[in-house]
Amino acid sequence: MHREIAKGIYYVGVDDHHTELFENLWRIPFGVSYNSYLIIDEKIAIVETVKGPWADEWLDNIREIVDPAKIDYIILNHMEPDHTSALPDIAKIAPNATLIYTPRASDMRKSFYDVDLKEHTVEDLEELSLGTKTLKFVHVPFVHWPETMATWVVEDRVLLSCDAFGAFGALNGKHFDDEANMELVERESRRYVSAIITSYFKFVQNALKKVKDLGLDIKIIAPSHGIIYRKNPMWVVNKYDEWSSPELEKNCTIVFGTMYGYTTRLAMKLKKELLELGVEVKVHNVSYSEMSRIITDTVRTGIIVIGSPTYDAFPFPKIWAYVNELQGKRFAPRPIGLFGTFGWGGGGVKKLQKTIEEMKCEVLEPVIRVRGRPSEEETELVKDLAKEIASRLQ
Ligand SMILES: Cc1cc2nc3c(=O)[nH]c(=O)nc-3n(C[C@H](O)[C@H](O)[C@H](O)COP(=O)(O)O)c2cc1C
Ligand SMILES: [Fe+2]
Ligand SMILES: [Fe+2]
Repeated sequence: MHREIAKGIYYVGVDDHHTELFENLWRIPFGVSYNSYLIIDEKIAIVETVKGPWADEWLDNIREIVDPAKIDYIILNHMEPDHTSALPDIAKIAPNATLIYTPRASDMRKSFYDVDLKEHTVEDLEELSLGTKTLKFVHVPFVHWPETMATWVVEDRVLLSCDAFGAFGALNGKHFDDEANMELVERESRRYVSAIITSYFKFVQNALKKVKDLGLDIKIIAPSHGIIYRKNPMWVVNKYDEWSSPELEKNCTIVFGTMYGYTTRLAMKLKKELLELGVEVKVHNVSYSEMSRIITDTVRTGIIVIGSPTYDAFPFPKIWAYVNELQGKRFAPRPIGLFGTFGWGGGGVKKLQKTIEEMKCEVLEPVIRVRGRPSEEETELVKDLAKEIASRLQ
């Protein structure tokens, strides 16, 4: 299936309804799309390939419009295999095509794929004429990898933006923002950017500024995953700006683990106290909330409170994994609350505290450590922590 998105520019991507975990990490209950765009002019260009197992379907989509052997340029905005692993398939069919990507992509491509095609590396803002259409390559490093660029189709004012402005969710024939369920798009888009690109929010902000400074009068934004924006491209630009903003939200998110419910008691008590103080609060049980949802809700929350039982002298393993995400995804420093329970020697909360302090986050007082059930005094400590959180969020 293909779809013309502007005169001579065709969507030829595919829907993935098979993969359960994107990057083998993040749930994609609504699937995902690998978008690819075919540009027909005096020269023929394809922008992005697809993930390898979908190569045949993708090539069939191209064949609906043109013989893929006639492709002159294979433009790879980004080397991640979700967009490039069908490269060997097209390389066999279009041996005269030239690969176009940034200089930083060149070694990466050679390390990933043994294909015998010419390459031409493009500098930032370099142009390539296809005849009547001009392509301008805008380097956007770290959105999502260091070699990434976007392709601007000058005359049509179409920005082929790669991972930027992408979303989870298969398209199912609804390619455009005026056809899709935008509530779902908003959720899946925010979850996508929060789970995949969090470590590089600063670079998303840089890229947004660059696009604004270039003064591109964008008519269509066509990313490499998810829907294409033709009705309101600024909607997704503004949303990405908000979602990657360094400014924290005035709310609190409790992330806790539990085996038998003792830690849950503290989490629920804290939630109740916070709500009574008028604090907006979200709660995740780390065993049942999918990690990408926890990351989405906590990446910009003003205060994170982490609760854990002790498990073999360490924090609950899934809480430990979450803290690992805070580090790996380079969460902005902010105050963090800690509580937990133990059965004998404890150790879980202490290890959490050490790690959080190493991350240069302030640990809020009081840190609550309870053996089994909380006593009256310990319950008072929960109230104290709630008050501290409320005062910090004012
Ligand atoms: C598998 C397992 C390992 C545990 N390891 C420790 C430990 O090393 N040190 C400790 O003080 N308590 C340990 N405990 C006891 C729990 O930390 C304690 O019962 C806690 O209150 C459980 O909280 P929960 O009901 O929220 O799961 C362990 C419990 C289990 C089930
Ligand atoms: Fe990517
Ligand atoms: Fe991608």
